[in-house]
Amino acid sequence: MGRGTRAESATANASPAGPSSPPPAPPVIAIDGPSASGKGTVASRVAAALGFHYLESGALYRLVALASLREHVRPEEEERLAGLAAGLRAEFSGDRVLLDGEDVSDALRSEHCGNLASAIARLAAVRAALLGRQRAFRRPPGLVADGRDMGTVVFPDACLKVFLTASVPVRAERRYKQLKDKGIRASLAALSRDLEERDARDTARSAAPLRPAPDAILLDSSDLTIEEVVQRVLGLYRQRVAEGTGGAV
Ligand code: C5P
Repeated sequence: MGRGTRAESATANASPAGPSSPPPAPPVIAIDGPSASGKGTVASRVAAALGFHYLESGALYRLVALASLREHVRPEEEERLAGLAAGLRAEFSGDRVLLDGEDVSDALRSEHCGNLASAIARLAAVRAALLGRQRAFRRPPGLVADGRDMGTVVFPDACLKVFLTASVPVRAERRYKQLKDKGIRASLAALSRDLEERDARDTARSAAPLRPAPDAILLDSSDLTIEEVVQRVLGLYRQRVAEGTGGAV
């Protein structure tokens, strides 16, 4: 089993009920963690199990990266990149992502796009331009959001925050298998190096660095199957609901 530590109790997002009080905000489960920790698969399965909406925030940074390649905007041109982020014409349809009406799901998954996304994601203006778009995913009956700063910046009032980690060899092996299944050739050593570089960049940046929220539960998935992690997160959420801190459902 993975380790679970909770530094503080979760923050309830319900407001006191009254005739004129606005309806409570839909509950959010925030799942953050480093690249290839399995958070995307876990988050989408938890969302499906609860009938909640799902936000893969990394896809937005990847979309900005892809748009920048197409528009020939360099990673240091912060204002132009923020403009691209603000004007993204993106649609999420099941597991497909469209940019300007074109299905770019496969292009988004490339390692090149992920590394460029990480370079762009350190820019505060780009992050600010994507904030409202991410928060707009919070709709009834609830949202599961994965990324790096879901619990710290985007949804600080999330009723459950999980920080999902796994060792570098385990994550590199998972990424290697994913790519192999898609028929993409990769080297395990190069993948490990890329993951470590990306983690270092995501952790060291000043804008919304990769770090657990103080009230996040740390979950190491190195020795767990995806299904075990999913059940663990669902169990934690049900516990919150039973305690009355699971938000409005
Ligand atoms: O999660 P994924 O690997 O698709 O994200 C690509 C990159 O986007 C990450 O390496 C990270 O730099 C950035 N990102 C971020 N904040 C998020 C999600 C992703 O900075 N909430």
